[in-house]
Amino acid sequence: MEEIKQIKPPVEVRCGKELKALAACDTGRRPENWKLSPKAVRTFILGSREPLVYEGEEIHIEKKYLGNDALVERCIVTLAGNRGLMLVGEPGTAKTMLSELLSAAISGTSTNTIQGTAGTTEDMIKYTWNYALLLAKGPVREALVPSPLYIGMDRGIITRFEEITRTPAEIQDSLISVLSDKVLNVPELGDEGLLFARPGFNVIGTANTRDKGVNEMSSALKRRFNFETVMPVRDVALEKQIIISEVSQLAADSHIDMPVDEDVAELLASTYHELREGISSYGHRIDTPAAVMSTAEAVSVYYQTMMTAYYYGDSAMDVGCLVQNLTGAVRKETKDDLEKVKSYFNTVIRDKGSREGGIWKEYYEARKYLR
Ligand SMILES: Nc1ncnc2c1ncn2[C@@H]1O[C@H](COP(=O)(O)OP(=O)(O)O)[C@@H](O)[C@H]1O
Ligand SMILES: [Mg+2]
Repeated sequence: MEEIKQIKPPVEVRCGKELKALAACDTGRRPENWKLSPKAVRTFILGSREPLVYEGEEIHIEKKYLGNDALVERCIVTLAGNRGLMLVGEPGTAKTMLSELLSAAISGTSTNTIQGTAGTTEDMIKYTWNYALLLAKGPVREALVPSPLYIGMDRGIITRFEEITRTPAEIQDSLISVLSDKVLNVPELGDEGLLFARPGFNVIGTANTRDKGVNEMSSALKRRFNFETVMPVRDVALEKQIIISEVSQLAADSHIDMPVDEDVAELLASTYHELREGISSYGHRIDTPAAVMSTAEAVSVYYQTMMTAYYYGDSAMDVGCLVQNLTGAVRKETKDDLEKVKSYFNTVIRDKGSREGGIWKEYYEARKYLR
């Protein structure tokens, strides 16, 4: 049979070998129904120095989340307890990535997910009915269409709830009884309508702080979660490393045979870092744009430029094209942002260009594309 390709296979597929090797070598204590011990989950996310030997093959466990190791440890321990885990922070700080990694390592699947939107209803969180079956057979278990929350409880796996604060607060609150009593009532099923959660069940929510005020969470629901704030990467070298590894992965997935240009990655990492922090490495004060200057945005600006070079050009990164894509990324919110980036180029990048020359000078000259 021909293998069906996916644009982006889930993490348990992409890292299937790593997960198998970790399970085979796992000697740590394991909470009931977990696929791996907390120690092995930690290794899966934070990497190991030595490769594991599995079926005669050396398997390298790569570091996937770069940043705060202690945060990852706390997240894992939270999930072993009876409270949910809520990851909050700016967009693009790897909240979704972390929740996928945790679910894949703990439950073997990262796809049991509710996507929070303004249109999310209580049915989508709990259960719905297959109406043809409901009419034919009445309210029987067979006619019930389980939600990801129902499936999580029934199978003892993690349910992810993405962007939870985008859903109206009263809808979010349907989680309260499930999280506190670990039971979901389906009144239509009568005596058989109580679904008790199996061990291994828990909820990982994510929420963007930029969405704050859209729909706050009730304090009753907040009490059922441990909150962890995920911060943007604050180290230029680390940010550069993320850009390189993410872009390499994207390129490999799309069969784009082109190496990542380290200098260009550095240019972007430092631009995003300085515009976010409001201060340059030379000490200039910078007006920070209102748009989110996330690492994820930097990755997409790089990748866009790379594709242009690959499909239209000669496979060399063009700094002019990079600046055009940067313009597109910062113009999303307000026009003022573009003025701020222009003034950043006219001060910081001008100075770097004259002191360091080379690609920085080219970068400064490409400021004409900032419009
Ligand atoms: N600390 C980090 N470690 C590794 N990758 C990161 C980090 N911060 C951001 N990224 C990159 O940003 C991408 C977007 O993250 P995502 O999980 O979608 O963010 P969020 O859900 O917080 O908006 C990740 O897939 C990863 O490529
Ligand atoms: Mg997200």
